[in-house]
Amino acid sequence: MNNISRKNFLNIVKMVLAATGLTALAAPIVAFFYPSNLQETPSEPVDAGPAENLPLNEAITVKFGRYPALIVNTPDGIKAYSSVCTHFACLVKWDKERGEIICPCHDAAFSPKDGSVLGGPAPSGLTVFNVEVKDGHIFVGGAS
Ligand code: FES
Repeated sequence: MNNISRKNFLNIVKMVLAATGLTALAAPIVAFFYPSNLQETPSEPVDAGPAENLPLNEAITVKFGRYPALIVNTPDGIKAYSSVCTHFACLVKWDKERGEIICPCHDAAFSPKDGSVLGGPAPSGLTVFNVEVKDGHIFVGGAS
């Protein structure tokens, strides 16, 4: 540090700050032209694990493209929905006691049978995903 004058040290600090600022400005521009390859919704079915791990009236959340999917084992069968609330995009979750899919942000409630709105401010039901049990595994998405 003895070999660097105060003026040189301040010049180095200025260059580092300028480089940091330019990086902060450039990063969103680069991200716009080179978006991640993460698909909004996978085109192929996603293996959500063994069906035996999902007892009746229980739910699991699985990674499904850009956003998670909520899988609920209802008395009418296994159902799968987008976990994204249609109000302001909070992530919904299963409320076993209420027997409803709920959004913790503004208390919207959705039916586990078809994803329709049961209450709260959500303007429409949850996006429904195809779900199929094949070889003992739950598959979400893909063509029905
Ligand atoms: S974001 Fe879900 S109810 Fe508002």
